[in-house]
Amino acid sequence: MSEPNSNAISLRESYAGKHVLITGASGFLGKVWLGLMLERIEEIGRIYVLLRPRALVPAQKRFEKMMTTSPAMRTLHERFGSGLSQLLDDKVEVLDGELSEPGLGLPDVTQRRLMRDLDLIVHCAGLVDFNPDLRKAIASNVDATMYVADMVERSDHAALLHISTCYVAGSRYGQVREDVIPEYAPEVPEGETFDAMAEIEEARAAAEAIRAKHESAEHRDAVQAEVAEIVSKRRSGERSRLIRSMTRRRLREDLKQALVDEGMERAKRWGWPNTYTYTKSIAESLLWRRRDRIRVSILRPSIVESAVSYPFPGWNESFNGSAPLAYVMGTWFRIVPANPDAPFDVIPVDMVAKAMIISGAAVIEERHAPVYHIASSDRNRISVGRAADLIVLAHRRHYRARGRSRSERVFKSRWDAVLTEPEDAMAVDRNRAVVQGVLEGLDLLPDKWLTKARKLVDRTERTDKRLAELENLVGLYKPFMYDCFYVFESNAIDRTVPEETSLQFAPEKLDWRRYWLDVHMPGLRRWAFPLIDGKRPERWRAPHPVRLSALPPPPDATPEPLPKPAAKPQGEDKPASAKSGSRAAQASEG
Ligand SMILES: NC(=O)c1ccc[n+]([C@@H]2O[C@H](COP(=O)([O-])OP(=O)(O)OC[C@H]3O[C@@H](n4cnc5c(N)ncnc54)[C@H](OP(=O)(O)O)[C@@H]3O)[C@@H](O)[C@H]2O)c1
Repeated sequence: MSEPNSNAISLRESYAGKHVLITGASGFLGKVWLGLMLERIEEIGRIYVLLRPRALVPAQKRFEKMMTTSPAMRTLHERFGSGLSQLLDDKVEVLDGELSEPGLGLPDVTQRRLMRDLDLIVHCAGLVDFNPDLRKAIASNVDATMYVADMVERSDHAALLHISTCYVAGSRYGQVREDVIPEYAPEVPEGETFDAMAEIEEARAAAEAIRAKHESAEHRDAVQAEVAEIVSKRRSGERSRLIRSMTRRRLREDLKQALVDEGMERAKRWGWPNTYTYTKSIAESLLWRRRDRIRVSILRPSIVESAVSYPFPGWNESFNGSAPLAYVMGTWFRIVPANPDAPFDVIPVDMVAKAMIISGAAVIEERHAPVYHIASSDRNRISVGRAADLIVLAHRRHYRARGRSRSERVFKSRWDAVLTEPEDAMAVDRNRAVVQGVLEGLDLLPDKWLTKARKLVDRTERTDKRLAELENLVGLYKPFMYDCFYVFESNAIDRTVPEETSLQFAPEKLDWRRYWLDVHMPGLRRWAFPLIDGKRPERWRAPHPVRLSALPPPPDATPEPLPKPAAKPQGEDKPASAKSGSRAAQASEG
């Protein structure tokens, strides 16, 4: 007789009657998690979906629209038909919240109810742009995580599954282990130490100083004078309104750019390639300081890509994954700085969502690992070179069969991509230097000639803009494609093997050739490339629109307001009081 598998777990039993809050459910990964949970874990007690209202549209309306129009929800509609609204009424409660505010922006009465009822928070929200405004990255990736942790700490029995990224590793070469190195920074300059809390406070102060400088009267006057000078050379007539509006725009753009630059500089100083991974890593460090007071597990996916099967093969809405690179390799400028031998660690979104469900159950059952890498490089590696070959093959097949012009059918269908050293003479930035030279030359022409050369100027400017975008993309991806060589250890998830075979995590079963040619590239072409082209991808609408009934606020036994959590997220160590500490803390809050 075979031994029972001690790693086995029944996900349906683990989640039976449990109350789970998800953040980031309107995102690429969150939607797939939500669909899978509703479809495959019918025993779940309640799912709280925290969404922020958008442009005066309350969270519940956003949720109804998402459930009615997102292709990610297609299979849910196929399965439940007109009964889906009823299912959602029974299983889901939508909360109007803002994660970067204390108490997650929820009314006290709701916080109190959640703190009593919740078993698990799956914190999937985050700002995934590589180089955003530093203030926004801190708010969405650091502050939000700390406020979620506050909620967990003050709750009766809730635990936390925090979604991070494998790339918090920063500049590293080789195997990356599934652990948290406290106060981690990839490159600490000699004689310095990295203190995550001190760093984030410094970053906040730097962002505030930049804001103050850019909003000062002196700076405004200087920009206005510059703008006035430009306008006076180019136009005659009434100029003051134009100067005012151009000044406003310049001030806004300059401030944003300064905050983007500050984030990237701080990140690079400590060895992270961008503001995204810098802020995600700091959030991990601050969370780790609280590990004695909250039950927490960190799940780090690698690059999340098109679904292999759920909701359907090829579903994708991520623009930070391989989409921009795959896109570049389908244009005329196909020369990408990359190390063909480095692993290209992509992982399908439905595999990540399944791993989130498995690790969430492990957290509920208190048998979780501290860190899960949800990645493919250690279990089923594909190299950058092989992925590039498959991308090019997919483009060739596409242009041969469906090229829109003769040049696409004849030339693009034979065009090869080249992975090269960054300084290669044909790389995108060199192409751009040529175009910029042409533009500078055109600028020297007298005005009357310039009018005649207008068409050429417009075209060259368009090409330059496009090359600038591609150059920017290639620069953002270089750390992953060329500078670093990561193999993400990914064993922890195997310590919890679901009895539900359809929810198992098995990246070794992926046939990469089939995945890239038949699933991922067609998925990108359908859902991601139109967005890069500034077009809308195809639309979908469910035959039965989702409508939730407006629920009356549930009665609360203790109506007095909650003490407000700290205005700024707390990451400092307090005396450890282990798991029961969260209850004690709540009791002492009254
Ligand atoms: N995509 C990847 O390749 C990848 C790889 C590794 C790790 N991850 C991690 O996986 C998680 C999900 O990524 P994703 O690809 O699904 O991203 P996504 O599609 O951009 O979705 C991000 C989600 O976070 C929410 N959010 C951001 N800031 C918020 C705030 N201040 N308050 C409330 N909600 C906020 C967004 O809500 P709105 O709809 O209101 O904007 C959205 O639901 C992130 O934590 C990310 O770091 C992603």
